[in-house]
This record gives sequence, structure tokens and C-alpha cells, in this order.
Amino acid sequence: MNKIRIFKISFIFLVVLILGVGFFVLKNKSVVPSDNSLSDRCNQKDLPYLNPGLSVEERVDDLISRMSDWEKIGQMVLIEKNSIHDLNDIKRYNLGALLSGGGAGPKEDNPSAWLAMVNNFQDVAEKTCFKIPILYGIDAIHGNANILGATVFPHFIGLGASRDPDLVKRVAVATADEMSAVGIYWSFSPNLDVVQDIRWGKTYETFGSDTENVAQLGLAYLEGTQYSSNGYLNVVATLKHFIGGGSMEYGTSRNKNFKIEEGNITMDEKSFRQVHLTPFKQAVADGAQVVMVSTATWNGKMNTSNQYLLTDVLKKELGFSGFVVSDWYGVYQVSNTRYDSLVNSINAGVDMVMTPFEYKDFMGNMQKALANNDITKERLNDAVRRILTVKFKAGLFDRPRATPEGLSIIGNNQHRQLAREAVRKSQVILKNEKSLLPLSTSLDKIIVAGSSADNLGRQAGGWTTEWQGMDGNNGIVGTTILEAIKNTVSKNTEVEYNKQGDFSLGNDLADVGIVVVGEKPYAEGWGDNANPSLSSEDLAVIAKTKTKSKKIVALIISGRPLDISPYSKDWDSIVASWLPGSEGEGVTDVLFGLYPFSGVLPVEWNY
Ligand code: BGC
Ligand code: BGC
Repeated sequence: MNKIRIFKISFIFLVVLILGVGFFVLKNKSVVPSDNSLSDRCNQKDLPYLNPGLSVEERVDDLISRMSDWEKIGQMVLIEKNSIHDLNDIKRYNLGALLSGGGAGPKEDNPSAWLAMVNNFQDVAEKTCFKIPILYGIDAIHGNANILGATVFPHFIGLGASRDPDLVKRVAVATADEMSAVGIYWSFSPNLDVVQDIRWGKTYETFGSDTENVAQLGLAYLEGTQYSSNGYLNVVATLKHFIGGGSMEYGTSRNKNFKIEEGNITMDEKSFRQVHLTPFKQAVADGAQVVMVSTATWNGKMNTSNQYLLTDVLKKELGFSGFVVSDWYGVYQVSNTRYDSLVNSINAGVDMVMTPFEYKDFMGNMQKALANNDITKERLNDAVRRILTVKFKAGLFDRPRATPEGLSIIGNNQHRQLAREAVRKSQVILKNEKSLLPLSTSLDKIIVAGSSADNLGRQAGGWTTEWQGMDGNNGIVGTTILEAIKNTVSKNTEVEYNKQGDFSLGNDLADVGIVVVGEKPYAEGWGDNANPSLSSEDLAVIAKTKTKSKKIVALIISGRPLDISPYSKDWDSIVASWLPGSEGEGVTDVLFGLYPFSGVLPVEWNY
């Protein structure tokens, strides 16, 4: 009796379980068509779109005419690679684009592992019906600095100080070359934000606050990135973040962890255009292929769903023919439901969605939107046409795979020399009492102190190996400022270093004390800061070092101006070094007069 009852209960339980799971699976999942990659329409030889001899337009026309809606939808999604738990999903969902978020690399962080990882993803894409290659994107915003061993160039704020388009263009070429070496042909750069409030954590990602300078250097960076000798774009650049983020107001962020990032802009259209539009306008006219939408809100409306901005201004007025990609989770912040958010954003003009996590949900919602005619077939085709056009222009269908032989370009000497040049051209003298600088290379004694003196992580800042950067010498290949000082001075000069500034010189003062101080690494909203300034530890180190030296030089390693005015009267010389990256010798090149200082402030600094 008991046994029968147990049996019955178990049976009922099992049925309920099966029904429950079934219901869950069917509820919001996309309808995956049965595998047709072996069907007649696939695997045909000599299809026109595979012929490099045809024009890009002819190839796109041909390919698009063969694709199912399902395949088209897959081209519209951009997924963070760590969200792919089953590699076969790339084939199952026909995923068209992947990205490495900040710091998201292979298990072992080295160039060959990166190359293998990217090629591995492409291998799966090659098994899809039309073998459409994946567009793989990365934030190579100061060199391809996610990769350990890459040359780490100064962050844009430092390049902004150089005001040198030719230099910026060469930096972009080198960066693109260090990307394509690992098979990555899409860069989420240049940043064309015009920063108006240095409390913003993205300040250092910008060329500064001067619209003209941003426009000019942005154009140079775009040209360097997309430059190519073989008829294809070397690497596809992305103009970001469209538009106005530099004017987001402090305290308006939607995100409770941030102050400015994801905030609101209150600005009339005339000023908005005057401050923020020119860099985008010029870069679009110059052949930009991708624009990333800012997660900002302008006068209460999110840019991601702002049809006026994305379609009327960007696509129609500026004539932008490339594709618009949304920023990290940006689409889903638009409305209460994901479905509505998606429909609003796609109809506003977003062509590719950086979801960046759930693709199944995206695919399902897109299917539903097409079935309901909430998104039209015309809009679908327009978006996919724009995306495929970029893929063809980048030669993704035609280029041979990147191979290990090409990896030696990553972090090579030539690129490091270029980075060093960029560093020296970015240094700005803020104060130089009695012309203390440049220092002589043959002083008797120099003391060096400060949290950033022997710290490649701080020199490099955010977006280096990790999204938020790293504090310390964690494997970044380069030269610290301390090492650079030692390499520069004469054999007879004694250099003593103590991070804390604890020197025991007795009554003998050093000729010069060099303190290297500044900000810890950060990125984006996590770097929003009510009052960027020096830490009390840094100030204590400066005070101690001062008592042990005849003169004192402060090198400030920071992503933005710091409030030093209460203390700086006592310092003889002050240099804004920004976030110089891996080549510390660029700093000493000017500090010791091997080259003149030439940097000009890219943002206002009251010191
Ligand atoms: C940033 C973008 C970046 C993207 C991908 C976002 O959080 O705003 O600048 O390109 O993430 O990492
Ligand atoms: C960044 C990504 C990063 C992620 C981590 C985003 O805002 O842009 O690149 O990996 O946050 O959560």
C-alpha cells in the first residue's frame, strides 16, 4: 500500500517537474530553427558574396538575399565573450559579433593565447551556413593594453596635451597593428567625448575639453586605425560615445554607484551641437564605419532610444552609412521590459546591440518584434546591411587568418619608441620656479619617492589588463619612472629611492627630490569623484621628501587635474604626466632636458 502511494506521488511529482521545466524553456526562449547548415542553400561553392572581385555592395546584396531572418538577427547582437558558455551557441544562434570587455582575455594572458582564443571563435563561425566571420571588438583605447606584453601608450588625455595629429595617427596605426596581430579587427576607439567636468571617471579617455582639439586628434586617430595598404580597413574604428557625455551633470547618474556616468545632460540643442557634434561630424565625413551610442540621457531621454539623434542627425543629416552599436547594457535601460527597450532602440536607429550578456533572450525578442511588426523587415535589412558592409570593408571574408608569426609586433621596440615619443610630447609643465627644470643629468644626489614612482599599474591607469587597471607592477612590460631616472642620469649621480619618503641623509640635503604621486587606477563611473586630489599619504611623502632635498619636483600621474592648490606653493616644479603608460623614459626625456617640454593643457587646471 505504502509503496503504491509513494509511487503515485513520485509519478505526479515527476510529471509536474517535466511540465514546469518545459514551460520555462518555452516561455521566453527563442525558437531555434533546426540545424540547416547542411541544407542545399549552405555550402555552395563560388557564391558571388565570396568573390573579392565584386564590389562590397554586390557582395552584401547577394549575401543578404540568401539569409533567413534568424541569421540576420544573429548579426545584430554583440556578446561579451565570457557570456558564451557553449561555443556551439555561436553556430546555433549565428552570433555575428563578440567583444572582450575590459580585462576579459584568455585564461593565460599572453599574445599567443589571445590569438588562439579569437581564432577558436572564428572556427565555430565558419561552421555556420554562410560562414560569416565574427566581428571581434575590444577597447584598445591606449594601445591594445588588455594584452600583457602590448605597448601601453598614454591615455588620450595625455595625447590631447600633445596637440599633435601626426603623432596620434602613428599611435593609432601601431595600436591597430598590435590588434590585428591577434586577429582582432574592431576597436572601440577613438573616444570623441568633449569633457566639461573633470570629476567624470572617463575624463582620461578623452582628448580634453576643447572641441577643436578633440575633433582634430580624433580624425587622426580614426585615419590611423583604419589606414590600410591592401584595400581593406586595417582595423575598424568606433566613434564614441554619441553624444554629449562630457556634459553629464554631477549627481544625475541612474546608477547608484556612480555620480556622473550614465547621467543626464541638460543643454539646449544649439550649445549641444556647438560643444559636442563637430568631432563626430568630421569623423563621419572622413569614413568612420561604427558609432557607439552613449548611455547618457539628454534632457530626460536616453540617447539609446533617441531617434532624432541616431537617425535624423547621425544617419540622415551627417550621412552616416556605417552601423550604430549600443553601449554596454545600454539598450536595456530604456524601458521597463526588455522587449520594449529593444523595440524602441532598434527603431531609434541602433543597428547592433551590445546586450552584452543574454543572446537567447535577444534572439527571441527580435523574432517576436518581427512577427508583431513592431520592428519592420526594412529596419532589419537596413541594420544587417550596414553591419555586413563593414565586415566586407574590413576584409573579414577575404583576409587570411592571423598567425603566430605576426605576434612579434606586439610590444616591439619600434612601438615602444613611439610610445616614449608620445609620453614626452604629453608632459605639461605646470610650475617651474627659477627654471629648476630641466634637471641636469649629472647632479650628485637625487632622492625619489611616492606611490607612483615605481608602479607601472599606476602609470598605465584603467583599461590595462584589467578593466579597472592594477595598482603595482603586475606583469605589465615597461619602464617605471624610477627606472627611467636611473637610466638617464650620469654614472656619478646617486639615486636613492624610498616609496614613503623616509630618507636618512643626516644634514646632507639631496640636490633634488622627485616625488611621483597621483591617482590609483580606475575606470568609468567608478572613477567619478567629487574632488580629485592627492591622498594624505602622498602629501606626507612630499612633505618628508622636501625636508631632505634642496629643491622639489612633483610629477603628477593622474587621469585629470588634481586639486593641489592648497599645497603646491611649497613645490618648486610641478609636471602633469597624465597616465603615460609603459614607457617611463618619455617622462625623463623632458625632465632631464633631452627634449624640450611641449605639452599644453588639454583641460583647465587651477594649481
Ligand atoms: C564603455 C565603453 C566600452 C564598452 C565595452 C562600456 O562600459 O562605456 O566605452 O567600449 O563598455 O567595454
Ligand atoms: C565595461 C566592460 C567591463 C564590465 C565589467 C563594463 O562597464 O565597459 O568592459 O568588463 O563593465 O562589468
